[in-house]
Amino acid sequence: MGGKFFYLLVASTLIAYYIYRPLPENVEEPWKLMLLDAGFRSLIHAATIVEKLGLGHYMDVINLYTIATYTPPTSDEKVIVTDTKFGHVPVRLYIPTKQSDVLKRAMIFIHGGGWCIGSATMKSYDLLSRWTSERLNAVVVSVDYRLAPKYRFPVAFEDAYSVAKYFLQSSILEKYNVDASRIGIAGDSAGGNLAAAVTQQLLDDPEVKAKFKIQALFYPGLQTIDLELPSYQDNKNMPILPKTLLIRFLSEYITSDESFFNALETNQHVHAEFNHLFKFVNWSNWLPERFKKGHVYTDPSHRNFKIGHKYPDLLDPRMAPLLIEDIKLRGLPLTYVITCQYDVLRDDGIIYVSRLRKAGVQVTHEHVDNAVHGVITFLTGPFALNIGQRMANNYIEWLNKNL
Ligand SMILES: *[C@@H]1O[C@H](CO)[C@@H](O)[C@H](O)[C@H]1NC(C)=O
Repeated sequence: MGGKFFYLLVASTLIAYYIYRPLPENVEEPWKLMLLDAGFRSLIHAATIVEKLGLGHYMDVINLYTIATYTPPTSDEKVIVTDTKFGHVPVRLYIPTKQSDVLKRAMIFIHGGGWCIGSATMKSYDLLSRWTSERLNAVVVSVDYRLAPKYRFPVAFEDAYSVAKYFLQSSILEKYNVDASRIGIAGDSAGGNLAAAVTQQLLDDPEVKAKFKIQALFYPGLQTIDLELPSYQDNKNMPILPKTLLIRFLSEYITSDESFFNALETNQHVHAEFNHLFKFVNWSNWLPERFKKGHVYTDPSHRNFKIGHKYPDLLDPRMAPLLIEDIKLRGLPLTYVITCQYDVLRDDGIIYVSRLRKAGVQVTHEHVDNAVHGVITFLTGPFALNIGQRMANNYIEWLNKNL
């Protein structure tokens, strides 16, 4: 009896030790977040073990999360939901049933997951698109682009781009009764990266007549040349997206070369030849004072690394939308950016807000002072987060006013 009790005590102490993580004081629902985080960390550990034993790819294990949250396309009296294809790319399409005389608005949505995991068919993304469609009486196209490591850069971008181009054809807009002047694009995390890149590249595309009225970026990743911005330093061990996982996603998107992962970890991946690009992500210039606190800017261009030149992809604005000239930002549409305080990607979003405003683009910036990365993916189920639901509501309200 005593022995059993002892083992139970040891086991529960170990479990509590594993789950418990000190979190910032102002974070809501801390225990829920800790449990979510423990779940993700277990998945990361399992992935590492599977990889070490040579039993499978790391990302196949992480991607079990996607499979576990799959939901089939389900229509109801308000929205017809179907899985179909636009060109060669699978999409989940939401068409509101409500009849009206005026043409409908439309949104293209691109899910997150570090270019390596995730799907439009995940329960929370499905719900977000359904709400958007219902409340705006809008057509929503949620894109299931191909994922790394099987398909590396620029496949995810090209899939998202081709869906946008397909949808923006006048014959297709007519087919779905969509108003060509009221279409937007949105995405979270890696999906925010893709949405920003697609919006930029469409500006220069002579084949596309309809342009986006708005873009909405949820805590997007927008650059890859400086992985030591203040937010990277402050939040490297925060729940959901620790820096090592982000770096793993990033390196898988670009190459199978393991030395690249190591170069990214030490921020030694940009060759001196590309020093001129650092001005685009210079946090000393672009971050408001309160985000710089406790950090001293050291010019990254004083480093002299010889690794980055092997990966020109890193410097491609389709991979890193922040690396585009100011003049090219000018034509961008009204932009909604959400950033979260406890997120490695926080400063990417804030720098983009600063640069867009400087270029004369109208931006609504919603900075959430008490959130970690990725909360929009927890909209439903036992671990649904209030803060994610509020974020979704604010976003849809903003869309309703501005699209
Ligand atoms: C970054 O900005 C600071 C402050 O404006 C400036 O002194 C520095 O030269 C800049 N560095 C780069 C690489 O742009």
